[in-house]
Parts: sequence; structure tokens; C-alpha cells
Amino acid sequence: MSIRPILIHPDPRLKKVCKPVPDLSDQLRVLADDMLQTMYDAPGIGLAAPQVGLLTRLIVLDCIKEEGAAPRPMAMFNPEVIASSDDLNTYEEGCLSIPEQYADVTRPAEVTVRWIDRDGNEQQEDFGGLWATCVQHEIDHLEGKLFIDYLKPLKRQMITRRMVKLKREKARA
Ligand code: NI
Repeated sequence: MSIRPILIHPDPRLKKVCKPVPDLSDQLRVLADDMLQTMYDAPGIGLAAPQVGLLTRLIVLDCIKEEGAAPRPMAMFNPEVIASSDDLNTYEEGCLSIPEQYADVTRPAEVTVRWIDRDGNEQQEDFGGLWATCVQHEIDHLEGKLFIDYLKPLKRQMITRRMVKLKREKARA
């Protein structure tokens, strides 16, 4: 397993619609393992393939936060929200591609997600709380959508300018 570099917004690869995974392969399983390791290392609770530069419909997540609780690493190929609650929930979101910037985003409080697991089996599960927010945030990445796209233009532009500056400083370092 290896840690992969995470792309920082703005980057054209973060704005692309990703391609479905036709068949699982060992290469894709390695990618899922690498993404989980990259996410835990960051540390973060979710990561989508475009964030490591691959335009593939794959996300990983683990929203277990309690000290000492067993981790629940999940890898989802071709994930789809197939039902959403009318109830909404607002969470302060962040993103590993937009480091240290946080903002409130309102989304359906519960979602039903269908995906293909690493063994190629179809799975379906209902998610609530932080898991619901996270899985929707990650699936958005596969559509080229970032959490800042939910914000007012002024706020979004301010965050983008900060990221441009951060990238310039990193390039110089
Ligand atoms: Ni993100």
C-alpha cells in the first residue's frame, strides 16, 4: 500500500465527471487500499478517486470517530444515492482537496446508497448522521462537484483565492 498525493483545488481533474468502473481488477483494489491509507494518513473521513488524479467512480470512507472504536474502512465502486430523506441536516464540511477551509452545507439527513464492494458484490445500505453527509460529499466528487459549490459565490471565490495562494507557496517551497 502507498500514500498517494492529494490534488488541491483548483485543479481541472476535480471538476470532471468520473467514469464508471466496468469490472473490478486487482489494480482497482490496490487503488482502493491506497486511497484508504491516504485518507487515514491525512487524516480524513472520506476520499474520492479524482482527488488522487483518477477519474474513476470509486470512493472510500470511514466516519467512525470515537476513540478506541473499531475502524470501518469502506470502499465503494460506482456508488449511487438511490433514495434521500426529505429531512435535511447541516454539517460543517471540509475537504482534503481544500485544506483547512470549512463551511456549513445542508444536505438530506438520510440516504440509501447502492454500490459494488471490493469483492464485486452489490451492496445497499442506509446512512444517517455524519456518514450520510460524508457519502454524499464523496459521491459529489465523482460528478466534479465540491462542497464549496454549495456556498455563495463570494465565499467560494474567497476560498479558491486562498487555495491558489497556498498552491503557489507550496510550489515555491
Ligand atoms: Ni472532499
